[in-house]
Amino acid sequence: MADSPVTITTPGSDDAASAGPSPQEQKQMEQAYAQMKRKMSMEEIGRNIKHKIMVLSGKGGVGKSTVSTGLALSLAQQGYAVGILDIDITGPNVPKMMGLDGRRLHVENKRIHPAQGHLGVKVISMAFLLEDEDTPVVWRGPIKLGAIQQFIGDVEWGELDYLVIDFPPGTSDEPLTVAQSLPDIDGMVIVTTPQQVALLDSRKSITFSESLKVPVIGVVENMSGFTVSGTASPGSEFSVAAPGGKTITTSADGEGNFSFTLDIFKEGGGKSTAEEFGVPFLGALPFDPGFVRGGDDGVHRIVSEPDGPSAVAFSKVVAAILDQLSDGSDGGLEII
Ligand SMILES: Nc1ncnc2c1ncn2[C@@H]1O[C@H](COP(=O)(O)OP(=O)(O)OP(=O)(O)O)[C@@H](O)[C@H]1O
Ligand SMILES: [Mg+2]
Repeated sequence: MADSPVTITTPGSDDAASAGPSPQEQKQMEQAYAQMKRKMSMEEIGRNIKHKIMVLSGKGGVGKSTVSTGLALSLAQQGYAVGILDIDITGPNVPKMMGLDGRRLHVENKRIHPAQGHLGVKVISMAFLLEDEDTPVVWRGPIKLGAIQQFIGDVEWGELDYLVIDFPPGTSDEPLTVAQSLPDIDGMVIVTTPQQVALLDSRKSITFSESLKVPVIGVVENMSGFTVSGTASPGSEFSVAAPGGKTITTSADGEGNFSFTLDIFKEGGGKSTAEEFGVPFLGALPFDPGFVRGGDDGVHRIVSEPDGPSAVAFSKVVAAILDQLSDGSDGGLEII
């Protein structure tokens, strides 16, 4: 009697066993399995990508996407393996800036493969999901965030040195979703312009980083100044009426070359915001109409003029970022 297995029969238990899980239970099991697989895949992505950098701003149109693509291309110029993840569903324009307009995603074995843009930079964008670029996706909050999670988990990035993540403007749910999904994000780069209103908003982003528990790598001031250069009689001196009622006096050198920078908006705002919050100032990027042209014709400024002043300014910002990443203890805002 002690050796015999105990069988407990309850009314209807035979039927229940043979019927298997209900469609609802089946669906729940599938969902749990998919979620587990996604989590494992996020962890693998976390391991295969050495550094992950978020690019944020409080205000729209300050140049996040220009800066994200510029940072990625500048890193690629230096020989790093780089990817860009464009999270902006409503107005994704990274593919256009990377010469990948109209591309569709390549899916193999249920994994999404990034497109390769300029300088071999791998690009994943929500734009690749759009039927038509003029029809923005309007997804309700939870669906949008679920799509982002799934999207991140299903991408086959391979091994990367840097992944730059571009966001829509503002302190919205997207950065939170990404920060919670992708392990070991190094930190965020905050883009601002010298104007007062953009600076106010970038202060919001710095505070926002605390709730995300992602450190601030530093602040970049975009559209900082416009450099005018030309030739005149060697040694001649002249003055220029600059914005804000200022007068700039300059002179041509012995060969007749001159150059001066106009502060179109204001100057030094990014630096003072960084100082106020005790976060690093990563540098200033000039106002360069070539960025606008690049956005339209799909050839980024760094590609069309790899040694030009804008590419040089980007390489300085990249050097400052790498400096912060190599020395986390001495840099950005530490958030515990
Ligand atoms: N340094 C710059 N000099 C001149 N134009 C610039 C510069 N940076 C960005 N722009 C232009 O400003 C516009 C907005 O830039 P961008 O799309 O990068 O901003 P964004 O912050 O990503 O915008 P959004 O908030 O809509 O995502 C674009 O037309 C871009 O070409
Ligand atoms: Mg953008």
